[in-house]
Amino acid sequence: MSTQEKRHILVTSALYYANGHLHLGHIVEAIQSDIWVRLQKLQGHHCIHVSGSDAHGTPIMLQAEKKGISAESLVSQFRQEHQRDFGDFLVNFDNFHTTHSPENKALTELIYARLQARGDIAAKTIKQAYDPVKNMFLPDRYVKGECPKCGAKDQYGDSCEACGATYTPTELKNPVSVVSGVAPIEKESEHYFFKLENYNDFLQNWTRQGHLQEQMSNKLNEWFEAGLRQWDISRDGPYFGFPIPNTENKFFYVWLDAPIGYIASFKNYCERNPDINFDDYWKKDSPHELYHFIGKDIVYFHALFWPAMLHGSDFRTPSAIYAHGFLTINGQKMSKSRGTFITARNYLDHLGPEYLRYYFAAKLNDGVDDLDLNLDDFVSRVNADLIGKYVNIASRCAGFISKNHDGMLADSLINPALFNRFVDSSGAILQHFQTRQYHRAVRDIMGLADLANQFVDENKPWELVKNPENKQKVQAVCTQAINLFRLLSIFLKPVLPQVVKNVESFLNIAPLQWEDISQPLLSHKINPYQPLMQRVDPKQVQAMLEQGKQMTETSPVVETKKSDLDLAPTISYDDFAKVDLRIAKIVNAEHVEGAEKLLKLTLSLGSENRQVFAGIKSAYAPESLVGKYTVMVANLAPRQMRFGLSEGMVLAAGPGGKDLWLLEPHAGALEGMRVK
Ligand code: MSP
Ligand code: ZN
Repeated sequence: MSTQEKRHILVTSALYYANGHLHLGHIVEAIQSDIWVRLQKLQGHHCIHVSGSDAHGTPIMLQAEKKGISAESLVSQFRQEHQRDFGDFLVNFDNFHTTHSPENKALTELIYARLQARGDIAAKTIKQAYDPVKNMFLPDRYVKGECPKCGAKDQYGDSCEACGATYTPTELKNPVSVVSGVAPIEKESEHYFFKLENYNDFLQNWTRQGHLQEQMSNKLNEWFEAGLRQWDISRDGPYFGFPIPNTENKFFYVWLDAPIGYIASFKNYCERNPDINFDDYWKKDSPHELYHFIGKDIVYFHALFWPAMLHGSDFRTPSAIYAHGFLTINGQKMSKSRGTFITARNYLDHLGPEYLRYYFAAKLNDGVDDLDLNLDDFVSRVNADLIGKYVNIASRCAGFISKNHDGMLADSLINPALFNRFVDSSGAILQHFQTRQYHRAVRDIMGLADLANQFVDENKPWELVKNPENKQKVQAVCTQAINLFRLLSIFLKPVLPQVVKNVESFLNIAPLQWEDISQPLLSHKINPYQPLMQRVDPKQVQAMLEQGKQMTETSPVVETKKSDLDLAPTISYDDFAKVDLRIAKIVNAEHVEGAEKLLKLTLSLGSENRQVFAGIKSAYAPESLVGKYTVMVANLAPRQMRFGLSEGMVLAAGPGGKDLWLLEPHAGALEGMRVK
């Protein structure tokens, strides 16, 4: 960092509810923030990106119950799945924590205690819908009935989708509990409230000091005019959340501890990175920067409650909150019946992550307007820009350098003015990225790519090469083109991290930094060119949509009865390839108290141990198993069983009872080895 001060920046993406698959809407946000963070890192700033799972609340509790597993294990399954999805979209979180963590519990209790000490917490008795069968209070969305205004059937307890009326669940006609199907009763309970109105002056100022986008500030004015109201931050048990200290059966409402989860995720990161000082980032008036990337639906929580809570508990407030719009697909809300409810995995099964990263970048701006993924446009734009323009420059010129010049680039630029034109554009491109006008950055970059292609077209190295006298000229032209390509690669690096990594190996250079822009690459040996990107085939998109449709048609998955002779339905090779079979060594085996069929096995994969409950007690005494090698499914989602967590499966064959044989590999197999 020569010309600029090194900045310290903490970035967050919203914490994802850990009870469902990620869809492409979630990916919009992660890609937006990831590009921004990568840009900071590319400039040499110190930037940390944290996120995680939002673990608490009624929906997660009930869903876990339905699946017969603990809420903790539901959360841990989805957390793992989400991490994998983000990783495969090349979203590089420095930490992906969970709100159900000791750090978050401690911080939530601390913040609550400080607010309480300031007189910001009030207790009030309220009436609420209560399920007399399930013995629980019902959130608005868990009561359904007829709209009190228009009579439309099957409406949620908070608002009517037919006429738009808003009301309380008690106003619904013929209400029923979604959980048990019976009519809810009304019941009183004491709740705790955060007195947001105590922060009226603070918030009126804070929201007008440039921390928010203009569209958001305008929205907030409406809320100020309506008057700030006390916020109900407690829920009665049963509830999956943190108990409120010194109360009985009261829990913090999920939205109280969710944003605190940002701090907790960072704290957890600091625990593993002792060179980073937690207080430097979170103390009041910290000079470091803090940005929250969120969707427009959760502005209220982030722009009002959150700064007030932080201010009241002596933490720093955010430098800015960056809200984005919602994703639509082919101009409409994502829809299961149209097959356009595309999960992250559904996309990844068919298409590379960088196509979407590029497409979103080409559309994202700094506002909260919705953004559309038009699938035809997606295919043509990605092919025209990335393959037709960007990659094309390298693929047309690299071969001549490798073949005729032993990979050596010339020692000077034949058109320094054109190179400088690229360099001069870098300031504006950087500024566009910095201000989240990614679509402008991409537009400028592709404008430059056009110039580079024009240069190649005018000089036609493929013609020049026919005459041996032009040998130097060919080298000069291709050197120039490759240098322009190198600059484009720096500009695109936040968007296309993997492609640019491959560009770096092709160019045989260290990881590119933004400051590398000013110097051309000359008298340098590059490696033979390998294709950097394939065109998108519209068939891939079609296949993705088909899969999406099928998945929604066949869900929920019905367990079919097993008959001995029936073969399972045919699966594709890709499906099979997902199963990670490994050689495991049984390092321990023991009886499980209270279990009829199960043995508890400890399996070593070399680098780690797994606990697996296997239904092989009828055939094996535990002592006879220790030391044996067997085959396990190593990437099976962990499953919470009555006796503990099972982290995989072993393979056995036979009709059952005594006649059950654990698969045992031949000598030579080592623990951890992949079974192919
Ligand atoms: N758990 C809360 C956030 C707590 S932050 C302290 C939540 N979770 S979410 O899983 O529903 O959404 C996570 C993020 O994805 C939010 O910022 C949300 O706005 C965003 N999106 C969810 N659906 C989206 C689209 N269809 N399009 C774009 N972003 C969307 O809200
Ligand atoms: Zn209505």
